[in-house]
Amino acid sequence: MKKNVLIALSLAVFAVNATAADINAGKAKAEAQCAACHAANNDWNKPIDPSYPKLAGQHKDYLAEVLKQYQNGGRNNAIMVGQSATLSKDDISNLSAFFASLPGDLYLKK
Ligand code: HEC
Repeated sequence: MKKNVLIALSLAVFAVNATAADINAGKAKAEAQCAACHAANNDWNKPIDPSYPKLAGQHKDYLAEVLKQYQNGGRNNAIMVGQSATLSKDDISNLSAFFASLPGDLYLKK
């Protein structure tokens, strides 16, 4: 009985670790691939053009959902369909966690 509880606990810890987003990996990926458009002078609150949306401080779930939609055709934009095509599930989770961690004014934080 005790052994089963321990196994269940260690599986639960493993599951949490396996899905935890890596903000630093997201940052590295974002700086390499996304900054050119979404961050003038590396400022994520200043995209290079008003038609390029601000990502800093956006909801994590929203970002992940939108990136999946660019991949599966739910949203169609030539640039972003290309940009998101090679992103893995982990990339999406890490990128979304990174942008959500940044200060921003997209919504009122309580
Ligand atoms: C070549 C320029 C360019 C690059 C590079 C780029 N984007 Fe975009 N991104 C855009 C444009 C333009 C839009 C607006 C597209 C639309 O209207 O659907 C956009 C939209 C988005 C959106 C939707 C935001 C919202 O509020 O709905 C997300 C999320 C996003 N980009 C994430 C990324 C990520 C993550 C990367 C890097 C992996 C990236 N972008 C790289 C130009 C770019």
